[in-house]
Amino acid sequence: MSQKQLDEFFDYLRFPSISTDSNHKSDVNACADSLVAKFTSMGLSVEKHETPGHPVIVAKSESKDGLLTVLIYGHYDVQPVDPVEEWDTPPFEPTLVGDKIFCRGATDNKGQNFAHILGVEETLKEEGELPVNVIFLLEGEEEIGSPNLAPFLREHKDELKCDICAVSDTGMIGPGIPTMTYGLRGIACLEFIVRGPTLDLHSGVYGGAVPNPALIAAQIVSKLHDENGKILIPGFYDKVVPLEDWEREMWAKLPDGEQATIDETGVKGLWGEAGYTALEQRWGRPTAEVNGIGGGYQGEGSKTVIPREAMAKLSFRLVADQDPADILKLASDYLNSLCPDSCTIEVELGHDGPAYVMDPNSKYGKAAQTALKETFNDAARLIREGGSIPIIQAFKDILDVDTLLLGLALPDCQIHAPNESFTVTNFEAGIKLNRALLKELAK
Ligand code: BES
Ligand code: ZN
Repeated sequence: MSQKQLDEFFDYLRFPSISTDSNHKSDVNACADSLVAKFTSMGLSVEKHETPGHPVIVAKSESKDGLLTVLIYGHYDVQPVDPVEEWDTPPFEPTLVGDKIFCRGATDNKGQNFAHILGVEETLKEEGELPVNVIFLLEGEEEIGSPNLAPFLREHKDELKCDICAVSDTGMIGPGIPTMTYGLRGIACLEFIVRGPTLDLHSGVYGGAVPNPALIAAQIVSKLHDENGKILIPGFYDKVVPLEDWEREMWAKLPDGEQATIDETGVKGLWGEAGYTALEQRWGRPTAEVNGIGGGYQGEGSKTVIPREAMAKLSFRLVADQDPADILKLASDYLNSLCPDSCTIEVELGHDGPAYVMDPNSKYGKAAQTALKETFNDAARLIREGGSIPIIQAFKDILDVDTLLLGLALPDCQIHAPNESFTVTNFEAGIKLNRALLKELAK
């Protein structure tokens, strides 16, 4: 790859396009503008669409009759950088160390979508035309649940008409191992606040006789799972489609998922739903997680207080055919039922998105596998992923297309965490993959 391509990538990475933080609204917008400029320079027709949140960018190659149309989706927004003190290099100053480019968004998702952009640019430069019609769709709200993208798809359905969607925003099971993801978990988020006394109380004067919201919040959270890791919310598993034998057998042949999970996370031991391997638990089973919990004194030393309130933020990872809205209702009812009469609980529902599963051996799925093989000189491994990309099922529901998930995130890339990185090797591979994919799809 050329220095120019790397420089352009670094410029893209420098925008602190943190979608969740309103202080960064103008940075997200400036990042969108940089994409407009890039697509314009490539000769694509590009539009920046304002939304109630962050802009959506749509760029199209010249549309030719008789050619397949491929929608390439990605997101230019990134996660916050905290805890910033744990970064070894400034989070928005791309820093090359060996093969790794350290920067927030390097892998998730700027590196992966920019590789597609550069792949198309290279093909146009070298061959003068593309083997397929391409529509790029880049959004700035994926990391906050894509609240405005489904309405956008509905409104621009005709303009976005396509045959297949391609997305690089998932993982590879190891360096150099081509990986096609045929399923993603869905997500449903909520938070609750338990309220007790009307003011923080002296824990000596009142302790023992009044309910402590922090304790009650902890007791509620402790009732999310039984001792076998099964989720106790009534009805939670009712619509779960079980894993199929062929996929359990296929995943059992992958490198040891138990050990990999331990090595990647640094835990002393694993935890989870009994009867499933670590990969099955991570990719094919639903979960209930506590993403944050708090209340009461968090400062230095001790403070003898009964806090007036305590909170927790929960998220559920879902599988087909769980409906996120149903799950939020069931969870909310369950949380309410667990709160004793001595306190109140308020449950606030957050964003959600359904799970996605496709047939990896469909015609386009096979083309994607061939493109992966050409790029990495090895047969594609077929996996599902535990993470979520909320809009993917909407591509199916609204645009009636499947999505090929051809990710380049490595197990040690630290997305959403300090010191996120993307390798130059995978950046180059992503450019190659885009070119191979468009060719294979055109066949
Ligand atoms: N790229 C990730 C999703 C992902 C990561 C899929 C790794 C497979 C493997 C995406 O940007 C992401 O982080 N999604 C969020 C969605 C949520 C905020 C609605 C997620 O999964 O937490
Ligand atoms: Zn992400």
